[in-house]
Amino acid sequence: MTSSKAEERRWRTLRKADAAIIGGSGLEKLFKDMEQIHVGTPYGIPPTISVGDVGGKSVAFLSRHSVQHSIPPHKVNYRANIYALFKIGVKRILATNAVGAINVDFKPGDLVVPHDLIDFTKLRNLSFYDEALVTHVDMSQPFCPEVRKLLMKIIKKHAEKVWNRGVIVCTEGPRLETPAEIEMFRGLGCDLVGMTVVPEAVLARELEMCYATVSFVSNMAAGIQQRLTAKEVSAVAKERMPVIQQILRETILYLPQKRKCPCANALQDARFRG
Ligand code: HPA
Repeated sequence: MTSSKAEERRWRTLRKADAAIIGGSGLEKLFKDMEQIHVGTPYGIPPTISVGDVGGKSVAFLSRHSVQHSIPPHKVNYRANIYALFKIGVKRILATNAVGAINVDFKPGDLVVPHDLIDFTKLRNLSFYDEALVTHVDMSQPFCPEVRKLLMKIIKKHAEKVWNRGVIVCTEGPRLETPAEIEMFRGLGCDLVGMTVVPEAVLARELEMCYATVSFVSNMAAGIQQRLTAKEVSAVAKERMPVIQQILRETILYLPQKRKCPCANALQDARFRG
């Protein structure tokens, strides 16, 4: 993929939304009775995207695991999802994801806006740039600092237990981790573990889209609590989702029109020209 501004304009043929929400476990539906769009991409077909109005702003919603929650984290077509949002004009993505807490200061139900990540995935398509020009996007700030700041401001109004920093490690899944793996991640400085933030955050950056996520702690990671179950993830998701939805909607309302973050120019000087 090349990056000239003229070509970018050509790709973005369907200007449907400026911002998008990617829902994870527990947020499979956001808009009722809204326009459902099917967007094809060179990477495959993403789940149906719904487009709705949030305070006069057109917002896209994509359910990462599909509305039926039928796509496991290691089978999500991340490239198709992110490219489809790019194609309909999205510049900022707010996501949500369930995580296990490695740092024992974090507790089930807490909300976290991670500031950094570690990639322990194994089998995923991690880039849009598999050919020349060789492209290395900067991940010094893997989550958009501008969107994170706004998210934190809004979250503080709505939730008691929030953390404005956290290192999240992304595992391949779908199995949960072993206690030894969690111990290793703790040694590496990880606070949280999840299965979807990579390559989502990376691919968004590769297309110069802002990306930040609201993680909710659904359980303590393996070895810290006795047994981990999907049932418990789903129960915490159900309990936390109303407030997360409120936070995401309100953040969209206050997003400034103009972007001043590094994400907007992520491809500048990212190309290797030999
Ligand atoms: N590990 C990985 N992903 C998760 C977990 C976990 O403990 N909890 C929720 N998503």
